[in-house]
Amino acid sequence: MSSAGVRTDDAVAAKQRTDRSRVIALVAMTPTGVIGKDGDMPWRLRSDLMRFKQLTMGGTLIMGRRTYDSIGRPLPGRRTIVVTRNADWKCEGVCRAENPEQAVQMARQAPASQSSPTSQQESSADSDTSSKNRGIYVVGGAEIYRQLLPCCDEVWLTRVWSSVCGDTTLSIELSKFRQIEQTRVIASSKNSVPTEFIRMVRENS
Ligand SMILES: NC(=O)c1ccc[n+]([C@@H]2O[C@H](COP(=O)([O-])OP(=O)(O)OC[C@H]3O[C@@H](n4cnc5c(N)ncnc54)[C@H](OP(=O)(O)O)[C@@H]3O)[C@@H](O)[C@H]2O)c1
Repeated sequence: MSSAGVRTDDAVAAKQRTDRSRVIALVAMTPTGVIGKDGDMPWRLRSDLMRFKQLTMGGTLIMGRRTYDSIGRPLPGRRTIVVTRNADWKCEGVCRAENPEQAVQMARQAPASQSSPTSQQESSADSDTSSKNRGIYVVGGAEIYRQLLPCCDEVWLTRVWSSVCGDTTLSIELSKFRQIEQTRVIASSKNSVPTEFIRMVRENS
């Protein structure tokens, strides 16, 4: 409650954060906030894709319908929840949520590693990781980040050191988070531009 006795949006989000699994946003973004172009990401970063796989394996991915379309399939070893207003939307191996809040509720009600077996295509190392992972990962795009960032406990940001232009941008209020980890990756044949992986947790979470 605020001093006037009125519950603020921040207070509601803080209350929601106290009694459930951690909700983590993963986003790759340039310094000017570009996250996408023509329905895809305007870079190829193998190290970042591998880290994404390792970190999310066994957990639940929440994504918007357009991001799902750009991937085109459920990612193995993780439960996928797609947010869409289209009540007829269906895809084998994917759950549909009618709004972002419902997606988070669905993820909390049945943690992924209890409810969905890891794909047989995954290695045993992946299986070991997945059996312990109860994480809920918000993985875009911009519309979904904007709506769910207020209830995220952590942001795992890949800062993409590129001046590329895009048609999908995002702004994150980083002052609400405290940096706890930072790893640099130089440009190479597998990573077209240098990146920085920054792990941030919400202040007072
Ligand atoms: N750099 C990164 O880390 C990253 C990560 C993910 C995606 N991306 C990029 O971001 C771009 C896509 O982002 P985007 O913002 O255009 O789309 P998006 O967030 O992926 O999906 C938007 C769709 O989600 C559904 N939706 C959004 N809010 C909703 C609500 N309140 N209730 C119900 N459904 C809702 C709607 O689906 P319907 O139209 O079906 O109703 C909407 O069209 C792509 O370029 C992608 O490559 C970048």
